[in-house]
Amino acid sequence: MSLFGVHYDPEMNPDPLIFDIERKNVQHFAFGGGAHYCLGAGLGKAQAKIALPMLFERFPNLAFAPGREVKHKVAPAFNGYGEIWLVK
Ligand code: HEM
Repeated sequence: MSLFGVHYDPEMNPDPLIFDIERKNVQHFAFGGGAHYCLGAGLGKAQAKIALPMLFERFPNLAFAPGREVKHKVAPAFNGYGEIWLVK
């Protein structure tokens, strides 16, 4: 099974390319699943819960930099972002 395709099952998620933070019945595999479920999932979530509020508290007007595109990074195992330019 490909980790790349895991969120694209139309029975699970009919519109995977739409950013919808209020999506209902979310079932995600960002940390994998089954026997090899990410051992660092708790740590990763705890870091995000601490770091993101601190970031937005410190930079309340944080926004994408005008004229700059978000660049995606495709890697053999995990996709991610190569460049995200922001203005504070
Ligand atoms: C947001 C951060 C993270 C994401 C999105 C993530 C994602 C994943 C995914 C998708 C897998 C499953 C890979 C597979 O099935 O082939 C995995 C496995 C694993 N992750 Fe993470 N991870 C994160 C952070 C961490 C951290 C912080 C640690 C360690 C401190 C960690 C340690 C591991 C280990 C050891 C495995 C292998 C588990 C096994 O095979 O039994 N991860 N992670």
